[in-house]
Amino acid sequence: MYDIVRISGDGIGPEITDSVCRILEAAKLQINWIDARAGEAVFNETGNPLPEETIDAIKEHRIVLKGPLTTPVGAGFRSINVALRQKFDLYSNIRPAKSVPNVDSNFRGVDLVMFRENTQGLYIGKEHWVDEEEKHAESIAVVTEAASEKIITAAFEYAKKNNRKKVTLVHKANILKLTTGLFLKVGERVAKDYPDIEFQDLIVDNMAMQMVINPSQFDVIVTTNLFGDILSDLASGLVGGLGVTGAANIGDDAAMFEAVHGSAPDIAGQGKANPIALLFSALMMLEHLDEHRVAERIRSAVYAVLQDHKEDCTQDIGGQGTTKSFTDAVCNILED
Ligand code: NAI
Ligand code: MG
Repeated sequence: MYDIVRISGDGIGPEITDSVCRILEAAKLQINWIDARAGEAVFNETGNPLPEETIDAIKEHRIVLKGPLTTPVGAGFRSINVALRQKFDLYSNIRPAKSVPNVDSNFRGVDLVMFRENTQGLYIGKEHWVDEEEKHAESIAVVTEAASEKIITAAFEYAKKNNRKKVTLVHKANILKLTTGLFLKVGERVAKDYPDIEFQDLIVDNMAMQMVINPSQFDVIVTTNLFGDILSDLASGLVGGLGVTGAANIGDDAAMFEAVHGSAPDIAGQGKANPIALLFSALMMLEHLDEHRVAERIRSAVYAVLQDHKEDCTQDIGGQGTTKSFTDAVCNILED
């Protein structure tokens, strides 16, 4: 029996979290869910987007399954997603993008894993107005040797353990010579400890172009926070969109599993949300808990539905079904 904190989140969050929990139950996993709240809905009710009870629950149980949380654009409270990653030092944001069967996309055979530094860069939220008229703003990016070494080492260790051949470090050290320059320098040093793994570095603009021309050339990618955020949505687009890419936020003391996508307010409450992305995040959670066999069984059930019951899948990946019809189809296979 696992104790896992569950934050179902905003927008499509509750629908997809419900779907994922039904599927885990159908796979006979014994999970004691500890429900906790965060994000816009709890902010609207209580004035606090990150209640103390939620922080305490994560401190105690250390494993979290999290739906997306809405962050107001331009003003209002700061991202709770970012706050949680920083608070628990979840420094590795791991975002695999792998082609899935029977989902239309411009590419086949994409299988890359993005390691995004998750606690620093431009995401530390140090922004201020330079003038009183609010016509001149500044933002500070932080890169430290210690945090760079942690994420780059995590990427190489992952490559080694999973028999991956190449690590590509993405930077902008031609312009941001100190911050991303430091990140690159640490990468060059860490790479020397892994002589069997090819090391490559690319400037981020070139990287964006290379990814849409020939994504199969990439294997493991490691980069700073902002570049990783943008390039991981791009990577999702290579394999069928945000509905099919899961992610993990892993630190030394806690881990939080959430999809790459956000709360999708445009489709919330309509039964259109694809739960596969959060489900794949949950499978990363099972792998983190060494439940490899169950994770594989669920993944096979999803692939079987994609291949043989495409009509039950959601519309974003070319199906005609709903969140519920997809969930039912996967549960039927697991309960067979
Ligand atoms: P989004 O990722 O929520 O949606 C982008 C597009 O993808 C929309 O057209 C949406 O309908 C579609 N989409 C996303 N997930 C889908 C799914 N599971 N099934 C089918 N279609 C899906 O990005 P957007 O609209 O920029 O952000 C909405 C809110 O989410 C914002 O408040 C943002 O701050 C927040 N956000 C939260 C994240 C998190 O909790 N980790 C990550 C990214 C955004
Ligand atoms: Mg993002």
